[in-house]
Amino acid sequence: MKVLNFGSLNIDYVYNVEHFVKKGETISSNMLNIFSGGKGLNQSIALKKAGLNVYHAGAIGTDGLFLKQILDDIGIDTSFLYTLQDVRTGNAIIQNDISGDNCIILYGGANKAITKDMIDNVLKNFTDNDYLLLQNEISEIPYIVEKAHNIGMKIILNPSPINENIFKINLDYIDYFILNEIEAKALVGNFDDKNTLCKKLNEKFKNASVVLTLGEDGSMYIGKEGIIKQNAYKVNVVDTTAAGDTFTGYYLASILENLPIKTALDIASKASAIAVSKKGASPSIPNREDIENF
Ligand code: RIB
Repeated sequence: MKVLNFGSLNIDYVYNVEHFVKKGETISSNMLNIFSGGKGLNQSIALKKAGLNVYHAGAIGTDGLFLKQILDDIGIDTSFLYTLQDVRTGNAIIQNDISGDNCIILYGGANKAITKDMIDNVLKNFTDNDYLLLQNEISEIPYIVEKAHNIGMKIILNPSPINENIFKINLDYIDYFILNEIEAKALVGNFDDKNTLCKKLNEKFKNASVVLTLGEDGSMYIGKEGIIKQNAYKVNVVDTTAAGDTFTGYYLASILENLPIKTALDIASKASAIAVSKKGASPSIPNREDIENF
């Protein structure tokens, strides 16, 4: 079994601010940090730190070679990572306020320069024994899903950030969804009651397993095993960036390790609690050891 994450890589420019800038306003930031990020890269790092071997496919420009180095250094296979000569690496402008919340502007760059040819070249190396993880920050996702489904790969989708591109994907081909409340509501409707939201997800995606993350309210699994709930762990929140990515990577790695769903949810909750207590996207993702000591 191989696990392929076909996903984004970003350079994150993180500005500490008292409050998010408003329309027409100019504010100062007293700190700028530059971190490795991108939902794809973050999730690959979380998968690897959770103990799973992972292939990361995607694209960077030459300004993003340090991102490839970060993946190489922790042992992620980057044979399917393209370095493009004439396009910048994707980047994110992130405001991080004093309560640890963030808001993000994304520039797709190389992430949006992924072509059908590149996808064909990557996917020909995988079989129906393999898993594919996707987020929503790269180009041609509907094509990737179509191809991977034809190969017989199991597909995990984290539909984040949610936008109109998600509706171009054949969502019946998705085996596992890992998504937050905003994403769930965009897919099935504006149901405030969490149990109803779960029920609607289950009705719409009958053949899929779904994990709904609810921030401070924890997370819920819904699938053929029924509904399984998990509380969130309370920590001092410093920076919520990549909390969802950490959860996704740890949950998936635990499931592929054949751990029970409840245990997988618990491990993923601990991992994301640790991530929000530290600054940055991928630098905040904990090791397995940190989770055992948590
Ligand atoms: O999920 C967090 C990530 O979203 C950041 O690293 C940023 O790059 C954006 O993709």
